[in-house]
Parts: sequence; structure tokens; C-alpha cells
Amino acid sequence: MLDLSVNIGSVPLRSPVIIASGTWGYDESLWREDLLRHVGAVCSKAITESPKDGNPGHRIWETPCGLLNSIGLQNTGIDDFVDEKIPKLKSYGVPIIANVSMEDERGLALIVERLVEVADCVDAIELNVSCPNVDKGCMSWGVSPVLTSQAVSMVQKIWKGPLWVKMTPQAPDPEGVARAAEDSGADALVVANTWLGMAIDVDSRKAVFDRVVAGFSGPAVFPMALRLVWQVSSAVSIPVIGCGGVSSGRDLLSMIMAGATAVELGTGMFRDIRLPENILREVKAYMTKEKVEDLRSLIGIAKR
Ligand SMILES: Cc1cc2nc3c(=O)[nH]c(=O)nc-3n(C[C@H](O)[C@H](O)[C@H](O)COP(=O)(O)O)c2cc1C
Repeated sequence: MLDLSVNIGSVPLRSPVIIASGTWGYDESLWREDLLRHVGAVCSKAITESPKDGNPGHRIWETPCGLLNSIGLQNTGIDDFVDEKIPKLKSYGVPIIANVSMEDERGLALIVERLVEVADCVDAIELNVSCPNVDKGCMSWGVSPVLTSQAVSMVQKIWKGPLWVKMTPQAPDPEGVARAAEDSGADALVVANTWLGMAIDVDSRKAVFDRVVAGFSGPAVFPMALRLVWQVSSAVSIPVIGCGGVSSGRDLLSMIMAGATAVELGTGMFRDIRLPENILREVKAYMTKEKVEDLRSLIGIAKR
């Protein structure tokens, strides 16, 4: 009997595949039993204090092996999430991770206080100190160990449940940020959010995005995300969740062997709604062939 269950701190997951924030809508048609069966948890879209329309202009730009996005944290705000979204999401029976956007200290406290009211429906908070597509907060906190530590401590004062920190690959010292998050009480690290990129529309001779820079994701970032997982998981002792370009069973296995306990899937879900199922099929075939009964025995094995 193959065992693909993992624990992210105190959060048990039946599968090491988590759906990344911003890539799984609230549309009921996505929350089907046959799709969710293979999924360990689903991260919500980033939640902000007030509803946000997101960025003007272009929001998505495809490249040959990745995607640029500048959504700008479009969401309906914390009140709608608590009153309308979360009770519905919880009824689907899959762990829900609330991706909380760090804009400013007052807003963060307010969001977390409201999440406490529905703590039994929220399996973990994923503190987003890493979105590159907004002018205020987010990535500007995640590039700094000191600010990351402050943000984690602020959440910890209010939230007693599991707390994951979603890191930015733009941090000049990712190990420093990771250690700061761990020392301040984070239970797990998600490595990582999107990479800064840009595109030029040669017909208009202008930058595609109004903010010029955008977040880059998809298969092209996988080797860089893998390297970050290796580095960060060597620097901390809390679980690391690999995120960035994972699109096959071999990608998932590589992340695990580099030190991740689970992975998040983002851009890959746009191309294949059945990606979790397809990835797990490949992983199970590998485990059968290699006589590996427990996936956890492979965590960090490439370093030994
Ligand atoms: C369209 C889109 C929207 C996203 N929105 C969020 C978000 O709201 N919060 C967040 O933390 N990450 C967000 N992300 C980042 C993803 O969750 C993920 O970290 C990133 O895309 C890297 O993984 P991938 O290469 O598998 O897509 C978004 C990514 C995309 C492509």
C-alpha cells in the first residue's frame, strides 16, 4: 500500500499536492469530488482588507514556457471571504489555506482577527509577503528578514493556528528570510511566489503591463524554484512546500528529494485541470517501480 500522505507541521494532508493561491477560482464547477480527491489542500486567492478590482490594463501575458501576470490581488475582501466564501469552501471537505495579503500592519491585524472567528474552517494561514504586483506591502516585506519577522509576529499575536509564510524569490538573502520566519514562529515555508519579469509589445513599442514589471511563473521557473527549495530547506527545520513551475510527477519528486514536504501547483493547473491526478499517477508508478512505500522517506534524499 503506497502512502502519499504528508504532514505540514500539525496539518495532515492526504496528498502532497496543494493548489496554489490565485489559480483556483471559487466557481462551483471547480470544486468537484473527482478533481478534489487527489488534492491535499487548496489555497484561497489572496485576501485583502477591502475588496480590490486588481490592476488596470493587461493582466496576463503568455511566453513560450511561462506566464506573466499582473492581477494585482483582485478579490472581494475579508468580510466577503468570512461571511460568504469560507463556509461554502469548507463544505467541500478539503483543507483550506487562507492566503492573507500583507499590505500594512493595521490591515493585517484586521484580516487575521476576522479569520479567528472562522478558525475551525481555516486549516492554515498562508502569509503572503511576496506578491510582486502591488505598490503597497507584500513583496516589500518579504525581501527583508526583519520585516518578515515583524509580519509573522503580528499574525502570531492574534492567530493560534498553523501559519505558513509564502516567500518571494526576489529576497537577496532567502535563507535569512526563512530563518527569520522560523524564529518568529512560522510553521512552514512556501518557496516561492512569482519571479519579477516583464514583456514588451513590439507592435505598440511599449511595456505590456501598466506597472511594467509582472510576476513570472510556470515551467521556466522550475529549476530556480528547485534550487531555492534546496537552499531554504537546508537552512530551517520547519517543513518547506515547493512552488514554481511544477508540472509533472518527476518535478514533484525532484522537489521532495531537494527537501520539500509537499508542492503547490499554480500555472500548471491552467493547462491541465487534472494535473494533481496525473502527477500522482506518475509518482505512484515511480514508487512502485522503486519499491518506495512511503513518500516521506524521499524528503531531502538527494542531499544525503
Ligand atoms: C494568475 C495568477 C494569480 C496569482 N495570485 C496569487 C495570489 O493571489 N496570492 C499568492 O500568494 N500567489 C499568487 N500567485 C502565485 C502562485 O500562487 C504561485 O506561487 C506562482 O505562480 C508559482 O507557481 P507556478 O509556477 O506553479 O504557477 C498567482 C499566480 C498566477 C499565475
